[in-house]
Amino acid sequence: MKNIYSNIQKNNNKNLSKAIKYLKSNQLVGVPTETVYGLAGNAYSQSSIKKIFKLKKRPKINPLIIHYYNYKSAEKDVFLNKNFFKLYNKLCPGPITFILKKKKNSPISQLATANLDTVAIRFPKHSSIRFILKKTNFPLAIPSANKSGGVSPVKSKDVEEEFGNKLKLIIDGGKCRIGLESTVIDLSDKLKILRPGLINSKKIGKIIRAKVLMNKNFQKIKSPGSLKKHYSPGIPMKLNQKKPTNDCAFITFGKKYSQKKNFFNLSKNANLNEAARNLYSVLRKIKKNKYKKICVVKIPNKNIGVAINNRLKHAAS
Ligand code: TXA
Ligand code: MG
Repeated sequence: MKNIYSNIQKNNNKNLSKAIKYLKSNQLVGVPTETVYGLAGNAYSQSSIKKIFKLKKRPKINPLIIHYYNYKSAEKDVFLNKNFFKLYNKLCPGPITFILKKKKNSPISQLATANLDTVAIRFPKHSSIRFILKKTNFPLAIPSANKSGGVSPVKSKDVEEEFGNKLKLIIDGGKCRIGLESTVIDLSDKLKILRPGLINSKKIGKIIRAKVLMNKNFQKIKSPGSLKKHYSPGIPMKLNQKKPTNDCAFITFGKKYSQKKNFFNLSKNANLNEAARNLYSVLRKIKKNKYKKICVVKIPNKNIGVAINNRLKHAAS
């Protein structure tokens, strides 16, 4: 049954146009992307950006990703380089974010970029957010639509759970296809992956014909957000476990695990893409069911498994 009081609205043209109207008047909207749901605001408007930081309770030192329809609309804000175009041509729109040098006369709010001389830019693929970006003459700052430090939302309902009626409009675009945040790659300095995602270093290396390093050192990570507690379900979590302890929620992967009340299988077929898509929903469910501890089996560290393990490590720390 449709709840007429809900701020969740189907992604038809009428509601997408409403979203555009809100964004133009510097209000925030919950939006779907192919990775996770985001909290969108006008990146050229200081007042919109202030609202994002306030609603998310996000530390001011953690910059936002700026989202565009295509590279043409980004030219005004950043210096696009050779490696950028190689990757853009093969992978965009898609789940990858580029760190580039900011242009001095860019109108992007300084608050959005935490006063850095770089900007993170992304071209999301979900048709709803593309519809919106095509019809706004400003880019959108879109962090994941969760309170700072928490688990990213992958359904419109999750966004409502995070912000309740503080958001007037959340566009429902179905469950996110990927379920983990975009890969973040630094192209402004030494090539380096700052946050792993579906698009991995091997794929990137092939396209730009160079070795791409993974930023392994969490202490020295250039993404300021990665220093803090992140992706956290708010309950203690133990990784690489063979068996569950009595009272924990047990996150499993693959066929060999039985169906028990406290067992949550990320993918019975041992499919890593499916596991990525389910991870954040499972974490939310476990929290809702009031478990006090989480144990997780070992997840293969290949393909998107690298990104899954990265999020699990952060969530457990
Ligand atoms: O998939 C995604 O990227 C999602 C969807 C909604 O597009 N967005 C997202 O945004 O994950 P957020 O704010 O949750 O994560 C942005 C990450 C943070 O770790 C932040 O520190 C990093 O990007 N970041 C932003 N600007 C940066 C910059 N100039 N240099 C280094 N890292 C930056
Ligand atoms: Mg986030």
